[in-house]
Formats: sequence, structure tokens, C-alpha cells
Amino acid sequence: MEFLLSEEHEAVREMAKDFATNELWPGAIERDEIQQFPKSLVARMGQLGLMGIMTSSKYGGSEMDTISYVIALEEISKKDASAGVIMSVNNSLVCWGLEKYGSEEQKQKYLTPLASGEKLGAFALSEPEAGSDATEQHTIAEDKGDYFLVNGIKNWITNGGSCDIVLVIVQSNQNLKHKGINVLIIEKGTDGFTVGPKENKMGIRSSDTHQLIFSDVKVSKSNLILPEMNGFRFAMETLNGGRIGIAAQALGIASGAYELALNYSKERKTFGKPINQHQAIQFKLSEMATQIDAARLLCYKAAWLKDHGKDYSMASAQAKLFASKVAMDTTIEAVQIHGGYGYVKEFHVERMMRDAKITQIYEGTSEIQKMIISRELLK
Ligand code: CAA
Repeated sequence: MEFLLSEEHEAVREMAKDFATNELWPGAIERDEIQQFPKSLVARMGQLGLMGIMTSSKYGGSEMDTISYVIALEEISKKDASAGVIMSVNNSLVCWGLEKYGSEEQKQKYLTPLASGEKLGAFALSEPEAGSDATEQHTIAEDKGDYFLVNGIKNWITNGGSCDIVLVIVQSNQNLKHKGINVLIIEKGTDGFTVGPKENKMGIRSSDTHQLIFSDVKVSKSNLILPEMNGFRFAMETLNGGRIGIAAQALGIASGAYELALNYSKERKTFGKPINQHQAIQFKLSEMATQIDAARLLCYKAAWLKDHGKDYSMASAQAKLFASKVAMDTTIEAVQIHGGYGYVKEFHVERMMRDAKITQIYEGTSEIQKMIISRELLK
């Protein structure tokens, strides 16, 4: 067992940290305030190889391992968790599944521009009636011979407004229930495909979340991902990896808030000494640092299992369950340590506290993570 990261991993951390500190951090408060999607910064992430970290270089990716992905996402999310989720969805929910199950033609046409950051992807599973219960898909793809006719609505789609390409989970045969589910690649600009208004969210406000509406959209059969593949299984496998990304995002939010609280505690004085000389603050910092270390280890473990071809469905759910709670608890404590300053925008921690909450909701709520874990435990 090896606890030290390799030189390559440290280099990824340095690269992501430099970019996040110098380019993401300066405008993070303003983008949050006005809900501005960071278009030029996402393009920069593409240039740095962050949009297809695990994708092979043959398809425009950086061909790095999942541990590198976790490291980079932690650093990005430390400074701007909205940028973290934009990157996470493109990497885990779009590029990964396309590379694993897409045809060669689909990879050339769609994966290469997505992994190189030239285009942006989204993953559309949730519906007004289907989030936690992912089998309840009501977006219908009717088989019309050489194309599918798609009708339905998708909810809460990250990158929904800014993406170019969407992997859409559809129901092709309701009699077969989850075995009738398929995955289609649908491009923006296809007739009948429209984007609803941007959601006005509590956190991760500079990532754009939209409803997607499909009204008599014709999709060529060549855009079906693996005709013989059960699309529900594709979605579940994709989400297993996605949860490592969200766990790393939560880890980044937690470690970012902790560092701010630690620094603030050295500067702020009460009762004649820096507040970190008070045991009440020392206890908080100790608890935060320990929880963050534990969350990081769970993230690395899930990533390691994935990189070594082992089953990681339980480990990724555990990492997400734990890291998202640590993100919530740590950001609440970081606001507390900042006192009144924590409650205003300039000090960043209130943004981080709002950002943390979504990590307990998307890609499966904490309750869903417990269902996934117990499903494995009781096998
Ligand atoms: N990994 C791989 N396969 C899995 C799986 C997993 N974690 N969980 C289920 N499956 C497979 C099963 O093996 C089974 O396959 P077969 O029929 O081929 O044998 C099939 O899926 C059905 O299994 P179950 O009957 O156990 O499935 P279920 O209906 O009880 O699943 C659930 C329950 C695991 C909780 C599932 O519904 C789930 O994960 N839900 C959460 C979905 C989710 O995360 N939604 C939000 C994502 S989108 C989003 O968040 C938007 C965004 O911004 C990114």
C-alpha cells in the first residue's frame, strides 16, 4: 500500500491549483452573484486538458488515471465548485460512457471534440418524475425505422444551456420497464430540441442548470449508444463514476473552506490573541482537518478501484456520501469561525456553504447513496 502520490500526480495538482488560484478565484464571487457561466474559463480548462482527463489521447483526452481526476477536481472546486461540476459532468458523465460504450464513429464525431474541450457535454437522466427512481423514464423514443422520434422533458440538467451535445436517457419500450431504456446522443440545434429557462439556484450558481424539452425530435439510429446495451445499466455505470467526481468536488469545497478558516483564525484576534489560540477554535479546526483527510482517502480508494478494474459502485457511493457530509459540516464551521464576516459575500465561505448542499443532492441524494451501499452489503 502506498500513501504518497507520484510525481505525476503532484504535477497535476500544481497545474490545477495554479489555474484555479490565478484564473478561477478572482471572479468567483461575481460569477456566483450574477449566475454567469464561465465560458472562457471552461475553454481554458479544455486547453489544459481538464475536460477529458481520463479519455485516451487518441480521442483528444489527457489519458490520465482517475486519481489524477480526483486531484484536479479537488483543486478546481476549492476555488470554484461551479467550474468543478461543469468539468465533472463532461469528464465522468459524458466522455467516460462515450469512450467505453460508443461506436468508433461516435467517438470520432462526438468524443474527440468533447474531451479536447472544443465542445461541452451534458447528461440528461432526471425528469419531473424521475430523479432518485431512475427507472421511471417518460422521455419516449419511438422507433420509426431508421430514426427515433423523441418526446419528453428532462430536468435539472447541468451544462444544459451551454452544452453542444447531450447524452439523453430515453424509454423505447415501456413494457420492458428499465430494460427498455436506451441512450441517445442528441446535438443542440436539432429541430424540436429546446432549452428551458435557467434555474435560479442556491449554490453552484455559475454552472447553468436547465430543463431540456424534446418535441418530435428526430434522432438517427447511428446516435444510439450500443444498440444491444441496456441503457439503464449504462446510466447506472456512468453514475458510479460520476459519484467519484462529485465526491472530489465536495472534498474541494471542504478543503477550500477549511484553508480559509485556518488562515482567518491566524489573523483574527479576540480577547488579546489570535482566535486559533482558543481551544474552541482549535477543536473545530482539528475536526475539520480529520474529516477532510478521511474524505480524501475514500475518494482515492474509489478512484484506485476504478483504475484497477475492480468494482467501485459501493466505494464511489461511500466516498460521495461521506465527502458531501464533510463539505456541508466543514463549510458551516468555516462560516462560524469567520463570525459575521462569514455571513457576507467577500469572504467566500458563505458561497462555499451554499455550494456544499448540492453535493448531498445531485447524482443521487445521500439517501440514494445509502441504498446503493446497502444493495452491495446485502448481496
Ligand atoms: N451499478 C451498475 N448497475 C446497477 C447499479 C449500479 N450502481 N444499480 C443498479 N444497477 C443495475 C442492476 O444490476 C440491474 O441490472 P439488470 O436488470 O441488467 O440485472 C438494474 O440496474 C436494475 O437494478 P435494481 O433493480 O437494483 O435498480 P433499482 O431500480 O432498484 O435502482 C437505484 C435503484 C440504484 C437507487 C437507482 O435508481 C439509482 O441509482 N438512482 C439514482 C439516480 C441518480 O443518481 N439520479 C440523479 C442523476 S442525474 C443528476 O444528478 C443531474 C446532474 O446535474 C448531474
